[in-house]
Amino acid sequence: MRTHSCGGLRETDVGQKVRLCGWVHRRRDHGGLTFIDLRDRWGLTQVVFNPKSDPALHAKAKELRPEFCVAVGGKVSVRPAGTENPKIATGRIEVVAEQLEILNPSLTPPFEIADPGEVSEELRYTYRFLDLRRPDLRERLILRHRVLKAIRRLLEEEDFIEVETPILTKSTPEGARDYLVPSRLNPGQFYALPQSPQLFKQLLMVAGFDRYYQIAHCFRDEDLRADRQPEFTQLDLEISFTDEEMIFSLMERLLAAVWKEALRQPLETPFPRLSYRECMDRFGTDKPDLRYGMELVDLTRSFGETGFQRFREVIEKGGVVKGFVATGGAVLSAKAVDSFTEAAKRLGAHGLVSIRVAERELICPMAKHLGEPTLRRVVADSQARVGDLILLVADLPDPAAAVLGALRSLLAQELKLIPEGLFSFVWVSDFPLFRYNSELKRWDSEHHPFTAPHPEDLKRLESDPGKVRARSYDLVLNGTELGSGSIRIHQREVQEAVFRVLGIPDEEVRERFGFLLEAFRFGAPPHGGIAPGIDRLVALMTGASSIREVIAFPKTQKAVDLMTGAPSQVNEAQLREVGISVRGAVPVVKSG
Ligand code: AMO
Repeated sequence: MRTHSCGGLRETDVGQKVRLCGWVHRRRDHGGLTFIDLRDRWGLTQVVFNPKSDPALHAKAKELRPEFCVAVGGKVSVRPAGTENPKIATGRIEVVAEQLEILNPSLTPPFEIADPGEVSEELRYTYRFLDLRRPDLRERLILRHRVLKAIRRLLEEEDFIEVETPILTKSTPEGARDYLVPSRLNPGQFYALPQSPQLFKQLLMVAGFDRYYQIAHCFRDEDLRADRQPEFTQLDLEISFTDEEMIFSLMERLLAAVWKEALRQPLETPFPRLSYRECMDRFGTDKPDLRYGMELVDLTRSFGETGFQRFREVIEKGGVVKGFVATGGAVLSAKAVDSFTEAAKRLGAHGLVSIRVAERELICPMAKHLGEPTLRRVVADSQARVGDLILLVADLPDPAAAVLGALRSLLAQELKLIPEGLFSFVWVSDFPLFRYNSELKRWDSEHHPFTAPHPEDLKRLESDPGKVRARSYDLVLNGTELGSGSIRIHQREVQEAVFRVLGIPDEEVRERFGFLLEAFRFGAPPHGGIAPGIDRLVALMTGASSIREVIAFPKTQKAVDLMTGAPSQVNEAQLREVGISVRGAVPVVKSG
């Protein structure tokens, strides 16, 4: 039906007869001529209809409306001087139309494709097939494809094999709720959709596959945010006879290949590394954004002799006075600083002390209580300069750091300190293996229960679980967790001990993980892996505000697909077949 795409013609094609197919992006009538920008996946080509050379054809062109699907035949010609469009690849030529076929007309779209302006998400997701015609969305999906292509190519070169693992399976604990699927042939029983292929990839290592990967769909029923969808994609990989170094360097090679292929940019490797403790102390988060400075500093010593009762009490109870210097923050209004104080309180702080370092004076609402010499000491110890703003929180070390970590990110945004187009990766390791859940009074896994403990800490695994370090690692990009992984447990006794610490009764361990423990008895090799999220990766690479902008058919905040209407009720016969009756809600669709 066509000789070229809408993005392919250049000056070297001038004089050629061509035929193009695509959608009417824009139509303009100008100086008696009618122009259409014809659009397809590859780009735009200007087509011109001249009433003098063919009045009937020109009249037909005037019937064209946005999003009509058409085929156009004509001759490639150089655009007259001064009318070139340097912004598009085909901007020096146009096609002088000799034929026009309307392949399918279009209703007026609910929003403009060429210039969508402010469109509600509801409308965009309901008409996702039109939304996806928008060039920016299309470009992101094409970039996503290039990312996957680069990943597959590199892993192929490094002798990995792609294996598909089941979607109808058993619960894989990754900390979220499962999506359940009733089994018709086994009434009253359910499959769970995989939260990740974790157990299968470990079993593939037991099976001897050595190097596995999969572009894996994962399903987690959890509260949604900009970087979470109920259904998402991971690059899931696993290696036998490996260690942290091997996995870090593989991922660095892989991401450098992705950057080269998809962004045509070099990526600096190796990535910096930080321990969990260092991250918490210096950035107040285990997902530090290293695109800007403003590290947290412990200023407890600056307040050594303070008469300020609030701070003294905290210090005496083993707390700290911690803060950071917001670069150039002295320009912020008192109202803006108040809003940060409110934010700090919402995050659990008792208060926030600010010191504005002005040319001739230090401005601090608590100056009377803190005293001039202390303020001067804080400025000197924190290395603040004129024009900066110091923010301080007094609390126990971890809560103080957590509040400041969140404020650091808010201030960086407010003060526009985050450079555009910068990609800042960091490896975070040495996490604790367990986290105490004070609400449920039990230990939970920080990563997942299959993570190996640090060998030096094995002896205190059950006696002092809070002190056991994990052989796990996170890959963080610009303050977002891109992926996590670990060296795994491959010995049955260690795995059983971890389940004991987690308080999972033997019976339940046998029922849920018996197959894994059994596999460990047949020469399971040492192994480890990682799973970076593809949606998050592509969103960060393209500067998208949400992973929904890099997923073809995403779900809303309420986990609904507005286009298909999923989830939806099913008819009574279907429910009967799987032995389910719905309480409360009456299915509207009647059977038979
Ligand atoms: P984890 O649970 O940390 O690890 O997930 C790994 C990565 O998957 C992405 N991710 C998500 N992306 C979008 N929406 C979600 N709801 C969502 N949940 C997770 C993130 C995250 O870093 N089996 C382990 C990996 C391993 O140990 O090898 C796992 O799934 O980018």
